[in-house]
Amino acid sequence: MTSPNTNKTNAYKIAILAGDAIGPEIMAQAVRVFDLVSKHRDIEFELTSAPFGAHAYFEHGKAFPDQTKAICDAADAILKGPVGLSHAESQKIPVEEQAERGAILPLRARYNTFANFRPIYLSPNMAHFSPLKREVIQNGIDILLIRELVGGLYFGEKERGVNAAGKRYVKETLEYNEDQVRQILIVGFEQARLRKGILHNIHKSNVLMSSVFWNEILDEVHQDYPDIKVVHLLVDAAATALCLNPGQFDVMVMENMFGDILSDQGGGILGSLGLMPSACMGPEKAYYEPSHGSAPDIAGKNIANPYSMIGSVAMMLDMSFGLKAESDAVWGAMKSVFEAGYSTADLSAKDTHPKILSTTEFGDRVMQELDRLLAAT
Ligand code: IPM
Ligand code: MN
Repeated sequence: MTSPNTNKTNAYKIAILAGDAIGPEIMAQAVRVFDLVSKHRDIEFELTSAPFGAHAYFEHGKAFPDQTKAICDAADAILKGPVGLSHAESQKIPVEEQAERGAILPLRARYNTFANFRPIYLSPNMAHFSPLKREVIQNGIDILLIRELVGGLYFGEKERGVNAAGKRYVKETLEYNEDQVRQILIVGFEQARLRKGILHNIHKSNVLMSSVFWNEILDEVHQDYPDIKVVHLLVDAAATALCLNPGQFDVMVMENMFGDILSDQGGGILGSLGLMPSACMGPEKAYYEPSHGSAPDIAGKNIANPYSMIGSVAMMLDMSFGLKAESDAVWGAMKSVFEAGYSTADLSAKDTHPKILSTTEFGDRVMQELDRLLAAT
């Protein structure tokens, strides 16, 4: 934990939720970024660690304990590692306290982090990590997937029981009100305006009434963004298009479950979910997390790829603190390590690029480069 240094002009409080399994290993690399930014800039980061996830349940009886809530409430931003355990271990935890339902969804709800930014990015020189053919991705991949994060099926009312015919049944509801849809579409249009002026709207309006409704709101919002070209695509067709021609996409916007599924596919076309950081933005607070799980099978082996965790810090620097140059330096440092021919064990380039780095080796190389880049600017 870093202690506050009153000599610095800017001081930010950050809650560190390292999480379960590989969480603490990759978090240990990610927090090194704060030390380096502090070293080179007039900024102090006060980091406070708090229990969150399965270990929090075993130690405190709650996956998202009150003390953690208080630390998050007081923080300027939250950095969260992956949480959860293997299926067998999770069975020791009551369903409502398992990490997804007991920690992640309540964290999202508490800070209304409705806008989830999931960049799907590979530089042209990292294209060998992708399982897609070279000719499909010769310019690399650069997509911003925006997922609605606090509505839809994941937050709707749930019910199960026995019906009049004596059969067990289940019911989950997909509900959005117009304000919820409008606010995420505005985020999509704004990002499209900052990038290439194209917004891919992903939906399923040939079947779902919720998508018909979504598209009606989109037409209304579009009136405020006449400069943006909207391309409508059904979610199933979008899944295919992401494989066959990802270059057509720039900004994509969609509801919660579509975004959950397509963002994992995004990790697939990059070559690993280990390359998927994310930002979860609310009106007052944001938290940052890798899009992947806690990989209990490789925990403690020092082989997990910390890219998504370090990338989540890069997103925080830019999106919470306006430190764009420093954020770019983090991306640049990570890119330069991979572009120098290194790989991590999760990446599918073992034959062509056999220089595999451990978690700490990747961190060491990134921090060395980041130190140099920050000193130079
Ligand atoms: C994600 C995860 C979560 C989700 C789970 C762990 C609740 O898969 O962030 O994509 O479904 O949103
Ligand atoms: Mn997911």
